[in-house]
Amino acid sequence: MTDQKLIPEQDRKAPEAFLSVRDLRIHFDTDDGLVRSVDGVSFDLAPGKTLGIVGESGSGKSVTSLGIMGLHRSKRARISGEIWLEGEELVSADPDRVRQLRGRKMAMIFQDPLTAMHPYYTVGQQIIEAYRVHHPAASKKEAKVRAVEMLDRVGIPQPDRRVDDYPHQFSGGMRQRAMIAMALVNDPSLLIADEPTTALDVTVQAQILDLIRDLQQEFGSAVIIITHDLGVVAELADDILVMYGGKCIERGPATTLFDAPEHPYTWGLLGSMPRLDRDLQERLIPVRGTPPSLINVPSGCAFHPRCPYAELTGGRSSSELPVLVEAGPGHHAACHLPTADRHRIFADEIAPRL
Ligand SMILES: Nc1ncnc2c1ncn2[C@@H]1O[C@H](COP(=O)(O)OP(=O)(O)OP(=O)(O)O)[C@@H](O)[C@H]1O
Ligand code: SF4
Ligand SMILES: [Mg+2]
Repeated sequence: MTDQKLIPEQDRKAPEAFLSVRDLRIHFDTDDGLVRSVDGVSFDLAPGKTLGIVGESGSGKSVTSLGIMGLHRSKRARISGEIWLEGEELVSADPDRVRQLRGRKMAMIFQDPLTAMHPYYTVGQQIIEAYRVHHPAASKKEAKVRAVEMLDRVGIPQPDRRVDDYPHQFSGGMRQRAMIAMALVNDPSLLIADEPTTALDVTVQAQILDLIRDLQQEFGSAVIIITHDLGVVAELADDILVMYGGKCIERGPATTLFDAPEHPYTWGLLGSMPRLDRDLQERLIPVRGTPPSLINVPSGCAFHPRCPYAELTGGRSSSELPVLVEAGPGHHAACHLPTADRHRIFADEIAPRL
């Protein structure tokens, strides 16, 4: 089946957004077979807005973001589709050009700053280096002033002293702050944060999310936040994209996705979201089963082996790939259930338990 036919019409419009991803596919040739890590993902991001990409482990969230940053380029990776950043297409661009944009126009922070930062260089040296790569005319002294300024801005106490510390001398939360300082030192217009708070305790998590929000307002960057926890993006994201098995299965404005989610997998994610106003033990409708293999992806809707409603679609769930269909303004979901059935199930069975 050619997947081109499956791209909904609205996904084929000329890209006008600040970031436009079109039918992105990133597959890896491995000894066990072809891993379809990202398999036809499309979305738009407006300047200064926040997109949350949500899904279970192995759904392709990190590979999507590494693809945008041009960091997936292993010999065994096959990439197709289009990534438009401010009118420039990155999939077909020269790797040197993408390298120039990385750090300057787009920057990334990772879950674990210890692996992303070099242990043998001070925090300051690493921020200075990140700055000077893109500002070759800047002297070391100027770059250090900028590094101290950035550390101060992300809330590191005594930044003029701590700038000379090594990463291991920082706490986990401070390291994450330092990595944010490094990512923002060149004032990028796109910041990708891949599980930026997963390794941190709950109080520090909230502080880091607040910091990202404040900085976004100050710097005006567009942000992609990647997480397996819908709670993390509940207050931060303007739009949410839900990934399952390398595909986008639902996307839309955050408020709509929380109030009127259309896809049974999103219902499961919402149901398993810990809530502050309830006992943490009370996980409502956990998504049963395990995430799909990306080598032998289940036929039809990849969620069908786990979906409680698969038998309501007259066999289509296991035989036919559902495409994203508009469910409301800017809201799309890929599920064979007739809309009226979906709304009835959500109203009767799901909403009362959320
Ligand atoms: N270089 C690679 N070669 C082969 N397979 C890969 C490679 N990188 C990622 N994958 C596979 O692609 C799939 C998606 O990986 P990805 O890291 O994007 O998941 P994720 O959604 O970020 O999960 P997590 O929440 O655990 O971080 C996984 O099955 C992973 O094993
Ligand atoms: S297409 Fe079928 S299996 Fe997939 S989410 Fe909808 S009902 Fe469930
Ligand atoms: Mg990941």
